[in-house]
Amino acid sequence: MASWQLIVMTFQILKLETTSKPEMYSNLAAQLRSLIEGERDFIANAANASSLLYHSLPDLNWAGFYLLKEGELVLGPFQGKPACVRIAMGKGVCGTAAEQRQTILVDNVHDFPDHIACDSESNSEIVVPLISARQLIGVLDLDSPLVRRFDEEDAKGLNELVTIFMESLPIAAPDTL
Ligand code: SME
Repeated sequence: MASWQLIVMTFQILKLETTSKPEMYSNLAAQLRSLIEGERDFIANAANASSLLYHSLPDLNWAGFYLLKEGELVLGPFQGKPACVRIAMGKGVCGTAAEQRQTILVDNVHDFPDHIACDSESNSEIVVPLISARQLIGVLDLDSPLVRRFDEEDAKGLNELVTIFMESLPIAAPDTL
């Protein structure tokens, strides 16, 4: 290929706002599969996954990853405003979800005693742990300016997306990334 030729690679993100949540997450699962197919680099796939979620799901102001490194959560690929870099295990919504290895839904972050406010626009939040071969790798965190933005259907759909995301990756702790 001549050096002057322009390589254009675009990924069309489907508009999902009018579909039901199960349908929306099923569409997102197909898009995520196609986006990360054949690529096993953790940071690249996490970056594209956060972009897909941020631009596809309505009413988000932040979507991204915190990765477990040397016993604490460290900011990973994300979309949204700059965020707190380090979160101790058990602290905030992210640290609690990581410590309990459970999805945590927070209807109103101002009612969550230990919430860490990175963006004053955030009013609700969902955090899904990333687990590979029984090892905690980190968490996926989504924030919304709406109160009660996330429900059990989001929890189910996001857990399915996290499973697809984790299956695409080599088993490795972020400490080694
Ligand atoms: N609110 C989170 C901190 C991360 S930001 O929302 C991006 C928490 O309480 O863990």
